[in-house]
Amino acid sequence: GSLINPTTLTSYETVTGCLIAVNAHGNIDWIIHDVKDSSIQETLLQKGLFDADVTIVPLQEGQFIMPGFVDTHTHAPQVPNTGTGYQSELLDWLENFTFPMEANFQDVDFAKKVYPSIIKKFIASGTTTCCYYGTLHLESNKVLTDIVHSLGQRALIGKCNMDRNCPSYYIEPSSSRSISDTQAFISYVRSLAPGPSNNPGNPLIYPVVTPRFAISCTNELLSSLKTLVHLDTRLHIQTHISENMKEVEYTKELYPDCEHYAGVYDSYGLLRNNTILAHAIWLQEKEIDLVKEREVGISHCPTSNFNLRSGIAPIGKYLDRGVKIGLGTDVSGGFSASMLVAMRNASIASTVVALQNNPTNAPIKEGKFANRQLPLATLLYLATKGGAEVCVLDQQIGSLEPGKSFDALIVDMSNISSTSKWPGDVDPALRKISTTTSSSRSSSRAILEGLLEKFVFCGDDRNVFAVFVQGKLIGGTSYA
Ligand code: GUN
Ligand code: FE
Repeated sequence: GSLINPTTLTSYETVTGCLIAVNAHGNIDWIIHDVKDSSIQETLLQKGLFDADVTIVPLQEGQFIMPGFVDTHTHAPQVPNTGTGYQSELLDWLENFTFPMEANFQDVDFAKKVYPSIIKKFIASGTTTCCYYGTLHLESNKVLTDIVHSLGQRALIGKCNMDRNCPSYYIEPSSSRSISDTQAFISYVRSLAPGPSNNPGNPLIYPVVTPRFAISCTNELLSSLKTLVHLDTRLHIQTHISENMKEVEYTKELYPDCEHYAGVYDSYGLLRNNTILAHAIWLQEKEIDLVKEREVGISHCPTSNFNLRSGIAPIGKYLDRGVKIGLGTDVSGGFSASMLVAMRNASIASTVVALQNNPTNAPIKEGKFANRQLPLATLLYLATKGGAEVCVLDQQIGSLEPGKSFDALIVDMSNISSTSKWPGDVDPALRKISTTTSSSRSSSRAILEGLLEKFVFCGDDRNVFAVFVQGKLIGGTSYA
């Protein structure tokens, strides 16, 4: 069938008659372009494969395959709050809506009851790798890990560290307890997840050290985390930074010796190439330089940034500086678990920045992205390859290439019936794509571009026909 594959920040390939060989370990062996239906058998024979060795999955009209989405920042325990509290800004929202919800996960049975449908929702949205915040509770985070593991999603999962400036019903009793629970959680994830049965050497779940944000951590806690991550450079780190102006002010008050917000994390050894910083809206120039120097990744969470009136992150400027950027749904600051919604809002956010700073859309001398609307190719890149870079998994996922894991979606942009309206419904003439070959390459390119744009701006879970992680079908409408 047809393939849409991100290549660079500004380009993606569209391939028709694409044959992708996925081996028993769930990795991609090879990809061939422009294969006609009639010559599939011959092509397989040339590769030394016989009928009995292979299962062929032909795509239908209106379908294409693409890499799965990488959500670089979201909160699994906040999903029940989706669509709640958007008249508040960050600090009030945390106190009045978020902490009360997260506190429910003290009860392990509550976690067991709600986490399965939550994780299924992310998978149904086409997210093959998800970077989750859990709650502060060790046992419920183990439940979350078990559920992600059993449902087959690739993930980073973090136990929240928070030992100050939180309500008495939702706070860790001491920094030492926070650390010992974190160590226990890391061991739990690593022992549970050596890899799926088809590829035991390839873990699908990684632990991520998760100080909630500077405000909710004591100096003692951050010092202990510094030691912990220093001794284990494999460990991912995630936190929030510079999301809301009042939050930035309060952070300065709490850490008067630090030059700026990023400097707080840096002084505790938390900025490195496997660190993910969510939001990063109000960074000073010096902070951007530091983030770049430390090879830190930023998770752009535009839906949440709009909902909580946090601000608009200057993502184009960061891209021009060469900072690694991915997208995050940031549920429940964000109102959707779907990366499609994150892509849409990233587009709108970039457009607002462009309208404010360059209303005539004049040519820009320096930089490609700053003060411009992000192109479709960039949105696709950020949602897949960019996210993989931010999670430092880009050798393995983020695009479909030989040697990488087969983490992919089959997107279905065909109509379910000729009469009903369907999100992203396309003109019947455009659905002919899967039978188009090289003889009309430029027109098939235009058709696939059209399908991708429809999917990004009008699609939803109903267009996600199949979700594969490490070669295994784990979700999509064809799975249910
Ligand atoms: N900063 C600290 N905690 C949170 C959270 O749960 N969501 C968001 N959006 N920002 C935060
Ligand atoms: Fe968040």
